[in-house]
Amino acid sequence: SIGSLTSAALEGPLGAKSAPVLLRLDRSMSSVTIPPPACMLRPLEVPLRYLFGPGPSNVPPRILAAGSRPIIGHLHPEMYEIMNDIKKGIQYAFQTENNMTIAMSGSGHAAMECAVFNTVEPGESVLIAINGIWGERVAEIAERMGANVHRMVKTPGRYFTNTEIEQAIKKHKPVLLFLAHGESSAGLCHPVDGIGDICRKHDCLFLVDTVASLGAAPIFMDKQNIDILYSGSQKALNAPPGTAPISFNDRACHKMFNRKTKPVSYLFDMTHLSNYWGCDGKPARVYHHTGPVSGFFALRESLAILAERVKGYFPTSSVTFLNKKSPFFICVLQDLRLPSVTTIAIPEGYDWREMLTYIMKHHCIEMTGGLGPSIGMVMRIGLMGYNCEKTNADMALHALADALKNCKKSKA
Ligand SMILES: Cc1ncc(COP(=O)(O)O)c(C=O)c1O
Repeated sequence: SIGSLTSAALEGPLGAKSAPVLLRLDRSMSSVTIPPPACMLRPLEVPLRYLFGPGPSNVPPRILAAGSRPIIGHLHPEMYEIMNDIKKGIQYAFQTENNMTIAMSGSGHAAMECAVFNTVEPGESVLIAINGIWGERVAEIAERMGANVHRMVKTPGRYFTNTEIEQAIKKHKPVLLFLAHGESSAGLCHPVDGIGDICRKHDCLFLVDTVASLGAAPIFMDKQNIDILYSGSQKALNAPPGTAPISFNDRACHKMFNRKTKPVSYLFDMTHLSNYWGCDGKPARVYHHTGPVSGFFALRESLAILAERVKGYFPTSSVTFLNKKSPFFICVLQDLRLPSVTTIAIPEGYDWREMLTYIMKHHCIEMTGGLGPSIGMVMRIGLMGYNCEKTNADMALHALADALKNCKKSKA
């Protein structure tokens, strides 16, 4: 201990007063038994990749530059202004006037959990449409918080008719219905019209996932009577991963702010988040958690680009570029194709993993296989937002053709 050291030992080059502090620092360093890892002594290396998978997508320089602005405090008035701008940008992107509109500090999963944790109480019935991985994921989240989960299941890429949905709602009397608008594991853009009205008729909230579709396929939260809508930053919005827009209408707010129990998550509790985002009408915002300041700068810029889009709200769809005429290309879905993610059939006799590895190695292009129930069934090409250009589609198709030439065909 310091007490056992001689006064001579306490004297250092900075004078007697600072010596004990230096000694303490020195002693703490000399007691390190794990050496610094060699990798941490090398500079960071990040390769350049064409991100033509289902996300994340490439981030344009303007958004990268916004994310590299100097950090300010998460509770500074200037930050509140930026958060207010983000709220307006999300309202535009979602086509909603909902006051309860925020960005989650976290990826799309954070918004998924926030939606379910806040609007459902343990023991309540929820209905989940599953036609790919995302419905199953939400079902698991709802089960973990103690909801009574009912699944409507179809093979990946199939859609539910409004009649099927209404019948299931009548049978299970859920407080919440979940549907993925952009089912990225299957490449399907699910029709939404009319479902919100059915939900209203049966006193059920309508929750829609647009992580893979926002900014690529039109969605109209207010007109389509969607009660809760969420998305992610890293797909067609082309921002870095880590923030997730979400909005609740008055019906959803009424349910979530009149609960008998507290939501299972403190971090995702909308009572606190609505205050942090200035949505609760209270004069002061108080500390809840430290938001991802740089992520919010980048998200604001991506929403600004969406607002400025010369072509208007409706973007170019990869369906225009990846179509029946494309060489070496068999699209799995002909109808209801998701404009941002195209699922293509695995060429017969080829190992899809080998093809994707070849494409990454020789073309620096990321494409992916299926996900969840579509693994081994399809490969996926994502052309999202800024990436959705004919030249990129041509590059992706050229890389696929090259992989077909150079990967071995194992089966006849
Ligand atoms: C439709 C859909 N929902 C949710 C998610 C989950 O988002 P994240 O990976 O940002 O948590 C994804 C991610 O691919 C997705 O495509």
